[in-house]
Amino acid sequence: MKTYDISKLKDNLTAEIGRMATSAAKPVSLLILLGTESPDAEYYADSLVKKGKKLGIPAKIERYSGKAGFDSVIKKIDRDPSVSAIALSPYPADLDFRHVSSGMPLNKDADCSGYRLAGSLFWGFTDIAPATAKSVFLIASEFFGGDMSGKHAVICGRSVRVGKPLVPLLLSINATVTICHSKTADIASLTKAADCVICAIGRPGFFKRGHFSPGQLVIDVGINKTETGFTGDVDTGDIEDSDITLTPVKNGVGTLTSLLIYKNLLDLLHLQE
Ligand SMILES: NC(=O)c1ccc[n+]([C@@H]2O[C@H](COP(=O)([O-])OP(=O)(O)OC[C@H]3O[C@@H](n4cnc5c(N)ncnc54)[C@H](OP(=O)(O)O)[C@@H]3O)[C@@H](O)[C@H]2O)c1
Repeated sequence: MKTYDISKLKDNLTAEIGRMATSAAKPVSLLILLGTESPDAEYYADSLVKKGKKLGIPAKIERYSGKAGFDSVIKKIDRDPSVSAIALSPYPADLDFRHVSSGMPLNKDADCSGYRLAGSLFWGFTDIAPATAKSVFLIASEFFGGDMSGKHAVICGRSVRVGKPLVPLLLSINATVTICHSKTADIASLTKAADCVICAIGRPGFFKRGHFSPGQLVIDVGINKTETGFTGDVDTGDIEDSDITLTPVKNGVGTLTSLLIYKNLLDLLHLQE
């Protein structure tokens, strides 16, 4: 098994964000909305703030409570020119996603949580996408040299922030795309036939040697909390001596995801002119 090295993508993205932030017509900032008290959500929001600091883009956390709190915070931010964009990361578990999605202002939606931006992505009008899906896309695109003509990508998981938005992204580089979910029969027969397998189902170690074939790129999106720490959806022990290229959990998809929230923020600025 080879471990995919994302350092070139990470360095290029960091440099591009730096250039874009410096040449922006006005100072930029991110507001992270936190609507839950879970320690994991707090940790994620704090790490996003730290990432912003490293990139020279100030970020702060705003807490809200329930639907009314969410609505009033969104209303305030929509009118506040000092907030360039909002990230709802992680998504608030206590709110109906349909409500959150329809409330997100199109031009300040740094993680593409609103259906307006997602619709533009599906129509091919924008390449601003949920940061995790974009991260997977960049890795696949780099691995296949920017064109997946004749290549088959099998996405496991159909969530709005990973699986579904990956469909238009991968189609944009000519991949043939299959999407699987919990009701798909015989997932292994589909994943084995792919050139690229994207594992995003949130089940630690679900994907084993029998799911893969030699030469494949396997992108492990899963970050699953277990008794022994965070693990991906792929059972790395089971595929150790196989001829597969796998993205690691640490220094993998998640590393680019947080950078891409800031990249999205900068890409959204032209919608605010
Ligand atoms: N690295 C990052 O930056 C990042 C960001 C976001 C999420 N994640 C991680 O990625 C994983 C997925 O996150 P998510 O938010 O997309 O999860 P999610 O919203 O819970 O969606 C999980 C998807 O997996 C499918 N699924 C579940 N069990 C399955 C099975 N046994 N066989 C086939 N499909 C199955 C579900 O199918 P149904 O639709 O049929 O229920 C669903 O479509 C999690 O581990 C999460 O922590 C990582």
